[in-house]
Amino acid sequence: RAHRDPHRPRFHFTSPGGWLNDPNGLTHWNGVYHLFYQYNPLAAAHHRIHWGHATSTDLVHWTDEPIALVPGSDGADRDGCWSGVLVDDGGVPTIVYSGRHGEHELPCVARGSTDLRYWTKDPANPVIAAPPEGVDITAFRDHCVWREGKVWRQLIGSGVRGVGGTAFLYESDDLRTWRYIGPLLTGNASQNRGELDWTGTMWECVDLFGVDGTDVLVFSAWDEGTTHHPLYWTGRYEGDTFTPTAVHRLDYGGRYFYAPQSTRDEQGRRVMFAWLQEGRTDEATAEAGWCGVMSLPRVVTLGADGRLDQAPVPELTELRRERVEVAPGALTEPYTRLNAVRGDQLDIETTLRLAPGATARLVVRETPDGAERTVVEVSRTHDGGGTLLLHRETSSLDPTVDIEPRYGELPLGEDGRVDLRVLVDHSALEIFANGRPLTARIYPTRPDEAMGVGIGADGDVTLERFDAWQMASAFTDVPRPLWP
Ligand code: FRU
Repeated sequence: RAHRDPHRPRFHFTSPGGWLNDPNGLTHWNGVYHLFYQYNPLAAAHHRIHWGHATSTDLVHWTDEPIALVPGSDGADRDGCWSGVLVDDGGVPTIVYSGRHGEHELPCVARGSTDLRYWTKDPANPVIAAPPEGVDITAFRDHCVWREGKVWRQLIGSGVRGVGGTAFLYESDDLRTWRYIGPLLTGNASQNRGELDWTGTMWECVDLFGVDGTDVLVFSAWDEGTTHHPLYWTGRYEGDTFTPTAVHRLDYGGRYFYAPQSTRDEQGRRVMFAWLQEGRTDEATAEAGWCGVMSLPRVVTLGADGRLDQAPVPELTELRRERVEVAPGALTEPYTRLNAVRGDQLDIETTLRLAPGATARLVVRETPDGAERTVVEVSRTHDGGGTLLLHRETSSLDPTVDIEPRYGELPLGEDGRVDLRVLVDHSALEIFANGRPLTARIYPTRPDEAMGVGIGADGDVTLERFDAWQMASAFTDVPRPLWP
């Protein structure tokens, strides 16, 4: 891995080079985590997508494996092996993915060797010859496959033109012959497209799972080639339908935490990954020679308010090195630079208590002159509500990178308590505030100087705890076999 690009993360997974997008085929198989991903090894651009592959035993260190799927020279996937999942078909690892042919995708199947390294495509691909008849659809791709009693069930992401995104439900005895059942749930895309909970004209990467007694349907809202944001429905999956309770934003970073996929690991945890898209131009990306960051794995549980709580897997604390602590007490200054804490690979954990009307801020990646700085703000309104806000307007002085702020609703703990965790990994930033995540990318123009960290407040804020650690790199440069 070339580490010359100062924006390249060191403890988030990135591909060996070229383009990376969605996580695929997530599985914990005989003690080994397998992460496959949408990959173009030839250029940092989305073209003729392969399935890259990496393995880990601890969710921290990853080993690159040979490329798992390569688009065919002809046939159903000649223009790309798009997103999909991996299931255990009676001991045979089996991938269900979207084969792209021309401008269309159809479901394909491949069976793997016992070490999940080598894959053989089914000669009958595509295994579903066409989308459901009589429905005017916007797209038809991505898969969620599970075993239910004696049959397999599958969801395929789609959208009904003029209505909204949807997930089509299918059933099969052998993963090869599928019976169409009907739409599991259909959204409503008539709402204003600017809305943060607008559900899109197509649902990409549908992912259905149960967590702590509630059913959850995760999807990424897409429209006419634009990737909007990941959302989830909570509700009840029963028979052939999903009865929704509510729809929520999955991550306040929107498209910076896109196309999430999850798996239940051997410890019974629901572990989720997503794609952190770039916020710089295609030209800058092409120049860098790599792009796309995989999120840190996160554990998803159900919160007391019926929404998802998210936290990075505890295994990541293994990378923590020197710890720096800040003494608790009232934050009386609007801003104080912490001279003891600096870096571009950091894990910061703090507990704050906010009085009504108060705002606390944590600044990271600040240059000595303060010209570039990224500000994480948590605030409490007078009526008891809370907000999490990420200011990126001064994250970079480069006028070509995305610096739009990001924000979302923050549930406050007792007496205005906020547990804030901020992980900084070069251009990748993951924030968790009382279980609500906000993920984004930042690109300071003076990355070697943008190491400063500081805290401050307006109004009555108590710092109950502040710990920061330098994070070690999870990747060492080893030559990796790329081709099978
Ligand atoms: C989501 C997505 C999927 C598709 C894949 C193609 O980012 O567009 O819908 O299968 O990426 O790479």
